[in-house]
Amino acid sequence: MVYSANNDRYGSMKYNRVGRSGLKLPAISLGLWHNFGGVDTYENGRAMLTRAFDLGITHFDLANNYGPPAGSAEEMFGRMMLTDFKPYRDEMIISSKAGYYMWPGPYGEWGSRKYLIASLEQSLKRMNLEYVDIFYSHRPDPETPLEETMGALDHMVRSGKALYVGISSYSAEQSAEAIKIMKQLGTPLVIHQPSYHMFDRWIENGLQDVLEENGVGSIAFCPLAQGLLTNKYLTGSIPTDSRAASKTGALQESSVTAQRVAQLNKLNAIAAERGQSLAQMALAWVLRGGRVTSALIGASRVSQIEDNVAALNNLSFTSEELASIEDIIRG
Ligand SMILES: NC(=O)c1ccc[n+]([C@@H]2O[C@H](COP(=O)([O-])OP(=O)(O)OC[C@H]3O[C@@H](n4cnc5c(N)ncnc54)[C@H](OP(=O)(O)O)[C@@H]3O)[C@@H](O)[C@H]2O)c1
Repeated sequence: MVYSANNDRYGSMKYNRVGRSGLKLPAISLGLWHNFGGVDTYENGRAMLTRAFDLGITHFDLANNYGPPAGSAEEMFGRMMLTDFKPYRDEMIISSKAGYYMWPGPYGEWGSRKYLIASLEQSLKRMNLEYVDIFYSHRPDPETPLEETMGALDHMVRSGKALYVGISSYSAEQSAEAIKIMKQLGTPLVIHQPSYHMFDRWIENGLQDVLEENGVGSIAFCPLAQGLLTNKYLTGSIPTDSRAASKTGALQESSVTAQRVAQLNKLNAIAAERGQSLAQMALAWVLRGGRVTSALIGASRVSQIEDNVAALNNLSFTSEELASIEDIIRG
């Protein structure tokens, strides 16, 4: 059946400004790292993307290497771009990245101008797009001069192949330097994509300050710790349909320790008192205080997207709740 978007799609989603740029992103964005590859079911991917868009999720995050195999998530998305989303292109923010291994030889990974620009061309073809809305340098390259990597991002914007550019997983110091170089080049760096969830808080030690001082937004990846911060592992066993059980998933079974499970159950009790699922509370926590522009979730089925978007019904915390959460996650 031809997809026709829900007329009420902008009724309940919250849109946050990305730093001091003109761009807004939904408070919850959807990433295609897992569950949209060549090994996955097209119809399930399509059901998730269309439901997400119907719920007001306008931002879809990809990268050259998402799959498996690498490239296949962009291909799946590109197929839907032609069949379902073409009429809605101007309502969508689509991102891609390059940085990790993509093809053999010296030009297939890291941060050279050669790799980044060639990779963007490939991504555009796979996704059936003329431009991406955001392009990221996926990781810092210790060997390529930062001026070269940033120069490639500047070139993409000037050539119209990317509307905005960002960086991912750069440290506070590397980010400050990248922001400075981009200012000199005249193309602002608008967004940083770091990992951030209750068990991974590195961005609180300097990076968030650098971003705020410079008016750069942030989109937090793995806000649910790849599914740990959900009701999935509360019994301590590994469900067969979970990422921890999957051969192609990045979450190791060994992450589900007895200590972690005890923490998750304590957090779940606080979430229940707030009338939320653990996933909903974990997302509200990432977005607390307005320091993070968008929480970038993943999903393996439609119901998870619905559960996660409903986090927006309660984004505020009492100071007692925050203190109790702090005690548990430090514990
Ligand atoms: N820049 C980078 O280097 C980088 C790195 C990693 C990720 N990312 C981006 O961040 C996105 C999200 O990463 P992620 O998938 O690890 O995020 P996540 O939201 O932490 O984990 C998503 C997984 O949690 C489970 N889940 C989600 N909602 C649930 C719910 N309500 N109840 C129960 N289980 C739920 C599902 O796994 P099950 O399979 O167990 O159901 C789902 O696939 C990626 O797609 C990508 O776009 C970027």
